[in-house]
Amino acid sequence: METKFKKIKEEALKEIKAIKNSDDWQKIRDKYFSRKNGELAKLLKDIKEVSEDLKPKLGTLANQLKTEIAKALEQKEGEISSKKETDLERDFIDVTLEIEKFKLGHLHPLTQVQNELEDIFKSMGFMILDGPELESDYYNFEALNIPAWHPARDSQDTFYIESKDKLVLRTHTSPVQIRAMQKYGAPLRCVVPGRVFRNEATDASHDHTFYQLEGLMIDKDIAITHLVAIMKEMLSAIFKKEVKVRLRPGYFPFVEPGFELDFGCLICQGKGCPICKQSGWIEFVGSGLVHPNVLKYGGIDPKKWSGFAFGLGLTRLVMMKYRIDDVRLLQSGDLRFLNQF
Ligand code: DAH
Repeated sequence: METKFKKIKEEALKEIKAIKNSDDWQKIRDKYFSRKNGELAKLLKDIKEVSEDLKPKLGTLANQLKTEIAKALEQKEGEISSKKETDLERDFIDVTLEIEKFKLGHLHPLTQVQNELEDIFKSMGFMILDGPELESDYYNFEALNIPAWHPARDSQDTFYIESKDKLVLRTHTSPVQIRAMQKYGAPLRCVVPGRVFRNEATDASHDHTFYQLEGLMIDKDIAITHLVAIMKEMLSAIFKKEVKVRLRPGYFPFVEPGFELDFGCLICQGKGCPICKQSGWIEFVGSGLVHPNVLKYGGIDPKKWSGFAFGLGLTRLVMMKYRIDDVRLLQSGDLRFLNQF
């Protein structure tokens, strides 16, 4: 019996020494310590069979054997887990390594120019206002002195929404003039940047969706000279140099008198080039003195107050500033185009 003990011990220690990973370890542990079929359990069963006087001695030996094997297993377990640590060390992540940079987006060129314009007008005491893109026929046309029969409606065809309130996708930012007058009264200084819509066949210079910036100033004795001064100030601030402007008569039902305001082409310095269609001037802003009917629609007494208004093509300005030759690029979402700004 004692030689059997010795044999088991030697074999166990040999096997434990050969253990390489935790799976092997578990197998060996079960081989010896499993309650049902483990070698040690079997040994104890055998001891039961021997004579009473041998039992105490064999019992002690069995316990010693058990402790020795358990100790060897425990030691091996330690070795395996510290080896695990070295594997971890090998898998160490170097947090200082360069990874692919997170790509930040940037503002659309239209938004950049809009922000610039807002700053310029704010510095001259103008409020920045907003209005609905889905506008009533009343604000978009009627209150701007464009009744249903007026031929001016033909040049601003848009998308009509079927509803009892007669809604349209606004054709210009001008309706916010009325909303602003009704809300704030006189005196008033505001600009309204925003998106507008037309039923257009699109080409390089026409799109169904584009951006404008409306301006309105109402005070005592407002004259065209105020309008010209503000326009010059704005253009010089945007282009960062002195800019020439000229007025031509123009017709818009909501102003009287009405003007087209052009600025001297900055690309050819007025000599004539393809951008200004050889004229030396760029058409830029519709403007004029606010029509008395429009003041009345806005709830302002035309006998006491007067004002100027203008509507500039923000989209056109961006195209001019960055020399973009196709308006459709602006709404294309094409990153090859947008990443240039
Ligand atoms: N709303 C006009 C358009 O979209 C532009 C315009 C012209 C606005 C004259 C004005 C103005 O405020 O006075 O064509």
